[in-house]
Amino acid sequence: MAVFCIFTLMKKVLITGGTGLIGKRLSFLLASKGYEVRVLSRSKSPESKYTTFIWNVKDQFIEEEAFQDLDYIIHLAGAGIADKKWSEKRKKEIIDSRVQSTNLLYNTSKRLKTPLKAFISASATGYYGSVTTATIFTETDQPANDFLGKVCRLWEESIFQFKNDKTRTVALRTGIVLSNDGGALKKMKTPLVTPLGDGKQYMPWIHIDDLCEIYIKAIEDEDFEGAYNAIAPEHITNYSFSKAIAKTFKIPFLPIGAPSFILKIVFGKMATIILNGSRVSTGKIEKTGFKFKFKSLDKALKNLI
Ligand SMILES: NC(=O)c1ccc[n+]([C@@H]2O[C@H](COP(=O)([O-])OP(=O)(O)OC[C@H]3O[C@@H](n4cnc5c(N)ncnc54)[C@H](OP(=O)(O)O)[C@@H]3O)[C@@H](O)[C@H]2O)c1
Repeated sequence: MAVFCIFTLMKKVLITGGTGLIGKRLSFLLASKGYEVRVLSRSKSPESKYTTFIWNVKDQFIEEEAFQDLDYIIHLAGAGIADKKWSEKRKKEIIDSRVQSTNLLYNTSKRLKTPLKAFISASATGYYGSVTTATIFTETDQPANDFLGKVCRLWEESIFQFKNDKTRTVALRTGIVLSNDGGALKKMKTPLVTPLGDGKQYMPWIHIDDLCEIYIKAIEDEDFEGAYNAIAPEHITNYSFSKAIAKTFKIPFLPIGAPSFILKIVFGKMATIILNGSRVSTGKIEKTGFKFKFKSLDKALKNLI
């Protein structure tokens, strides 16, 4: 009887893309805090520690049991922005895997009358565009007109469908996530580290544990609502970032930037995400009382050695 009571009291969180870089760490932290974690994935893995439900966004299929007595959805699923060159087909996949997936979650939870307390989703600092400027972007700035600006605008429009009297809705405009388990840091730890292009572009970044704590705060703090920039307070250029990686991981550093034209040949249009970058404000998230554990890149990298 007591065990049954504990299960019914546990808050239930469904994490889409729970198998990914952020999802794995967040699932672990939520489960350690006593949440019931469910994962929504395109496939079932026998190794998964969490109850996994299946969906197929293209076919608009979703296992409805995932929504039973559900309290929160954390939406992380999406085709990797930097995984493949941006062909027209890939661009469509990047958008659809975020927007059509959110629509499927919205239509299903509406049809099943799921009393969600909050819908919390990833978004990206790409909302403000792939530009290098000294402007410090805040959440009230408009989305950019380039591809990433469009992705984030459409993504957030679909996210905020969830907003109503009973369901808080949050979009976390995330910068480059630093983790030991993959993502950008792994790609940057090359045998020889150089800046990219002129190295003057800013690189909004965040330590994975700070990001996961922001997700947890978005669940637990009932005042959390709307879009927030989820990046560390320290603004750092690509040159300084590259140098810090070389120093921390004891990799040789060549202070001559890898030429932009070569990066454009190698990565095509996607090169814009490594050759450009702006400063993004943490003012709004800090006003919620959130305290970053890793405010400086130096501290974050030392933790990730
Ligand atoms: N990591 C970063 O630096 C960063 C920065 C800014 C924003 N974000 C955003 O945060 C979210 C999570 O990031 P992450 O780094 O954890 O991503 P990730 O490691 O690539 O994981 C994303 C998950 O999405 C699912 N997925 C992949 N392609 C899909 C598709 N075509 N259709 C539906 N689902 C698909 C996969 O789960 P299944 O295989 O289980 O279905 C995958 O594990 C993403 O939306 C990303 O854009 C990340």
